[in-house]
Amino acid sequence: MNKGNAKNLFLTGITGNLGAFAAYRFLNMGYRITALVRAKTKLTTDAHIKKMIKSLSTWMPVEEVQHFIDAGKLIAIKCEMTQTEEMKGIQLDDIFDETWHFASSLKYMPKDRDEIYAANIDGVKNVLDLHKRHSNRDSKFIYISTAYVGGRTVTHLKEEQLLLTEDLTFKNEYEKSKLMAENIVLDYGRDEKLFSVVFRPSIVMGDTKTKRLINYTGFYLALDSLVNLNSYIKNATGEVEVLRFESDNDIGLNLIPIDHVIDNMVFINERVQEPHQVFNITNKTNIGIKELQNIVAFSHLRINVVPNEAFERTPRTRSEKLMSYGFNYILPYANNKVKFSTERTARILGATYDYPYYPNKIEEVVDDYVNRKQVAEIVG
Ligand SMILES: NC(=O)c1ccc[n+]([C@@H]2O[C@H](COP(=O)([O-])OP(=O)(O)OC[C@H]3O[C@@H](n4cnc5c(N)ncnc54)[C@H](OP(=O)(O)O)[C@@H]3O)[C@@H](O)[C@H]2O)c1
Repeated sequence: MNKGNAKNLFLTGITGNLGAFAAYRFLNMGYRITALVRAKTKLTTDAHIKKMIKSLSTWMPVEEVQHFIDAGKLIAIKCEMTQTEEMKGIQLDDIFDETWHFASSLKYMPKDRDEIYAANIDGVKNVLDLHKRHSNRDSKFIYISTAYVGGRTVTHLKEEQLLLTEDLTFKNEYEKSKLMAENIVLDYGRDEKLFSVVFRPSIVMGDTKTKRLINYTGFYLALDSLVNLNSYIKNATGEVEVLRFESDNDIGLNLIPIDHVIDNMVFINERVQEPHQVFNITNKTNIGIKELQNIVAFSHLRINVVPNEAFERTPRTRSEKLMSYGFNYILPYANNKVKFSTERTARILGATYDYPYYPNKIEEVVDDYVNRKQVAEIVG
């Protein structure tokens, strides 16, 4: 550790949801951050710094972000994480106490395969190498994975390394790339005698205080589609429509607010003693689709959970087709029965592992988003 208790951190993905929230927490803890910002060709370094400031301003005033930059507490370096030679060229005078690797492609379609593997596999290897060159024997590499690394196959995800075997099948390329990356991090940690930690958050929702995120993807895209459908039905018929949704009432989504994800990871990381451990950063219970429906109350639509066979008898209506298009990403998750072990996480969090957050916390976050969307629709 560098002077006093003020850690010196290296962080990727600072312009994204989790990276920006973590940076906000770390800066307020007095830590110093060197952040890797992306070198998309057309943007200048200034433009990247502006993007970083804009992302952090979701959580704190712009003047405060600027103050951290002016005080040398927040430094941005521009480099393309996927480019091995460029990354090898980074030589800083620093030794990092911790590298937090948040940057990742969250795309999931087969057409984005190359981009997904470049960011999630080449990226992690290059950041590990950079970390090794800037580490000492106490430095830690912290990898942010996902609780859905078990794909379709694993029905109970334990808090331990999961090997990529042939019997595993995945809902998308993203999941597979994250499992591969986890294994790269854990194996590299053991081989190179570097302390590695893997955190697996489930589906990240808005902050419980501000209700906000920076990028609204995944589950939020499904909410968008419901908002749009509701106003479509309202304008088209003015009647309430009941839409069928293929799932099983036993299955649910595991949703967790961003502040709890970051606070739990920071808390655990400060206390973890053994290297190469894996933690599932999930809610205690999944939220059922039926329960979710009670949370999201729309004026002109209701959702009826039905088995898949129901559509063989009666094909989808136009509204149902529109809904399944918007649910493209989340649908496989709504049909994936998986539970997550949390013994290791709970052991460290102790009394603060006070879940579940349902229904109230998630309800507030979802309600706030849907209301904002509906107001934006009326105004826009
Ligand atoms: N959000 C969730 O529900 C969720 C759930 C479980 C796990 N996770 C994991 O948590 C981590 C952070 O996710 P997030 O929600 O914060 O995602 P996000 O908001 O989409 O942010 C992704 C970050 O990664 C950066 N990035 C992407 N591709 C890059 C590349 N090729 N080179 C450099 N940087 C690149 C982005 O930079 P730009 O801004 O320049 O694009 C951005 O800073 C990821 O590892 C993700 O797998 C997320």
